[in-house]
Amino acid sequence: METLVILISGRGSNMQALLEAGLPINRVVVISNDPDAEGLKIAASLGALVACIDHRNFQSREAFDAALADEIDRHQPDLIALAGFMRILTDGFVLRYQGRLLNIHPSLLPAYPGLQTHRRALQDGVKIHGCTVHFVTAAVDHGPIVIQAAVPVMPDDTPQILASRVLQAEHRIYPQAVRWFFQERLKLSGQMVTVSRAVVHDSVIYSPGLQD
Ligand code: GRF
Repeated sequence: METLVILISGRGSNMQALLEAGLPINRVVVISNDPDAEGLKIAASLGALVACIDHRNFQSREAFDAALADEIDRHQPDLIALAGFMRILTDGFVLRYQGRLLNIHPSLLPAYPGLQTHRRALQDGVKIHGCTVHFVTAAVDHGPIVIQAAVPVMPDDTPQILASRVLQAEHRIYPQAVRWFFQERLKLSGQMVTVSRAVVHDSVIYSPGLQD
């Protein structure tokens, strides 16, 4: 049974995009670290299993990550997708799921790791911004890149306007990356990801080399 676990902390629009994408999977479990995350209601209404491991109940990051891993492992997922999950994960957690832990980040990595990506891009006057889906490694926001999408930066953009343009692109590339994973088309070799049988299509920039 193909199982996807999605970890969220908030509104969950990327999670919703994944749930609505018609992915080749049998079961989705959505786990939040915050019982009030809006995304939990959306997930339940779309038929996903939902769970919450409230980080405030744990004394340390290690204890929280251990409880989160226990909940994840109960479902035996093939893939875990971080979708606006606002907790820094311990190295032990990241290692445990190496090669099957994806994240979406709202910038064209390696530019703008961390927070406030849209504000920083505007301050720097960049003309192209975007988003990245990458495998998670212990180096935060530096794991092997699966797919990126670029969007233009317009003269009157505010961080909010730019964020919403990037978010639309996020909703396209995250389902694409997860689909490739379940189709077993991603090959991970060191820092490099290649996608077999990928075709370039409009406004999506593919980071991996294409492979027959
Ligand atoms: C997205 O911009 C994602 O790239 C970042 O956090 C935001 C989450 O938004 N990691 P949502 O909860 O998916 O709507």
